[in-house]
Amino acid sequence: MTEKTNHCWWQNAVGYQIYPKSFYDTNGDGIGDIDGIIAKLPYLKDLGIDFIWLNPIYPSPNVDNGYDISDFKDVAAPFGDLTRLKTLLDKAHALGIKVLMDLVINHTSDQHPWFIEAKKSKDNPYRDYYHWVDCSKKELPNDWKSFFGGSVWEYDSVSEQAYFHLFYKEQPDLNWHNPQMRQEIYEMIRFWLKFGIDGFRLDAISHLEKAPWDTKIVDNPWAPFMNVSGIEVYMQELKAIFDEYQILTVGEASGVTSKKAREWTDISTGYLTMIFELEHNIRVGHVGHQRIDVRGFKQVLARWQKDLMDVGWNALYVENHDNPRINSVLGNETEKSAKAIAMMYLGLKGTPFIYQGQELGMVNFPFKTIDEMDDLSDKARFKQLIAAGSTPKAALKEVSWYSRDNARVPVSWENKANSGFTSGVPWLDVRPNCSRINVADEAVDPNSVLNFYKRLIALRKSKRIFSQGDFRLLLAGDENVFSYLRSNKNEQLFILVNLSGQKVNITLPNRVINHHWQCIVSNTQSINLMRHIELKGYDGFIFERIDKKSSS
Ligand code: GLC
Ligand code: CA
Repeated sequence: MTEKTNHCWWQNAVGYQIYPKSFYDTNGDGIGDIDGIIAKLPYLKDLGIDFIWLNPIYPSPNVDNGYDISDFKDVAAPFGDLTRLKTLLDKAHALGIKVLMDLVINHTSDQHPWFIEAKKSKDNPYRDYYHWVDCSKKELPNDWKSFFGGSVWEYDSVSEQAYFHLFYKEQPDLNWHNPQMRQEIYEMIRFWLKFGIDGFRLDAISHLEKAPWDTKIVDNPWAPFMNVSGIEVYMQELKAIFDEYQILTVGEASGVTSKKAREWTDISTGYLTMIFELEHNIRVGHVGHQRIDVRGFKQVLARWQKDLMDVGWNALYVENHDNPRINSVLGNETEKSAKAIAMMYLGLKGTPFIYQGQELGMVNFPFKTIDEMDDLSDKARFKQLIAAGSTPKAALKEVSWYSRDNARVPVSWENKANSGFTSGVPWLDVRPNCSRINVADEAVDPNSVLNFYKRLIALRKSKRIFSQGDFRLLLAGDENVFSYLRSNKNEQLFILVNLSGQKVNITLPNRVINHHWQCIVSNTQSINLMRHIELKGYDGFIFERIDKKSSS
């Protein structure tokens, strides 16, 4: 056993993602702040949270809401300052809550001093901190497309070169081939570790290495910058620093397959503690109303469960700041479906993350005009659709269904003006239906989604089988039902959730009906586990086996 294996507190932990701008505002400027997080720590403690991950709070021109960083070692004024952050760490630690920061090292803002220097001339010492390639405006170095639309290249007529950006043009990618740049990044990481943070969520980490510029795109347009060979060198260097401080690391690692993720998250040799896979977010259906396809969704999750079972570790999530609300795209916006989804993913093996408001059952925002949205990629897509002949109504429908702003509207704290998020004007409008979905009311309702999450989190922590047991998918072909067994030597759990709003009839396998089970959580009345059973829409159950001795 390495030293790392002895420090597995996170295997039994539950994380909570905070989008600080929309969490809680204490000074009435309409923007959530560090003091707002401090104020709500007791709420998080009560919910059963062990660590929080803060989306970026660094100084930023906010082209991509904080993911375009202009100073890696400071806090943006609207959020507070380094002293307030230190206070947050101290208060969180006093409650036994750890704090993870977002680490964005694939790119900087174009307003970062490095890029301001780099842009000045070809022989500037910072030029090579970024990717610059000779070209003409008409003939860019290649035809690769950026994640946010358009070319990955931005032409600079002064130097007759273009620089590379995977996201907005205001987010130039760092050149990881440059050892000096890497040293500066590592020094910055140490600055935060010495500051006392407990870990990082590593943004866009699988994109650090790029394929040679003349690589032709065959099918997958993102292949030239997804986990490209060569990245191991940087990941090993990063790992060496993370290991020194024994911190928790969670990588946003799109393109790292479930097989590869074994290496990435191997408990003794992996680069990172765990990674977020992005595969399960795929949706199908009518434009403007795409939903998660249950069969595909559970097959992706089941594959990740299996591939990482004995080696590696999963980060479990159903929401974040980049996706619409799960209770709208998988649920039917009811309390019942929010609870069903909670059981479905909190029963899996891995470390669950809850995104702010998810524990309330918050749903998508009914945007009425494009002006209500803040995300530039939404505005760009809207324009594109109009230019292609869409009506404003149809374009809005399509854009708003996918909009990242659905999850970025402020948290509903109370049923009052601006949902108790701010005494001023919120930077993004707040939920119109906070009358039903809000912390204050849900806290006193024993049947609320909030209290359901609380019970489920407590249950998960009380039984090691949730973190340790094996996983076996049942009813793999069923289009609506996600059902699986969690087993260890002496215990077994059976999770059974109908992820559709319709009634479904299912046939249970012998390995279930040959044993005795007791329902330990449900969002409906318990049922007898017989060969043929009918589930109503979004019925969900967690059963515990009560004849533990016999083999299955
Ligand atoms: C990640 C973040 C996303 C951001 C992007 C660029 O995907 O989650 O919000 O836009 O990286 O930094
Ligand atoms: Ca504020």
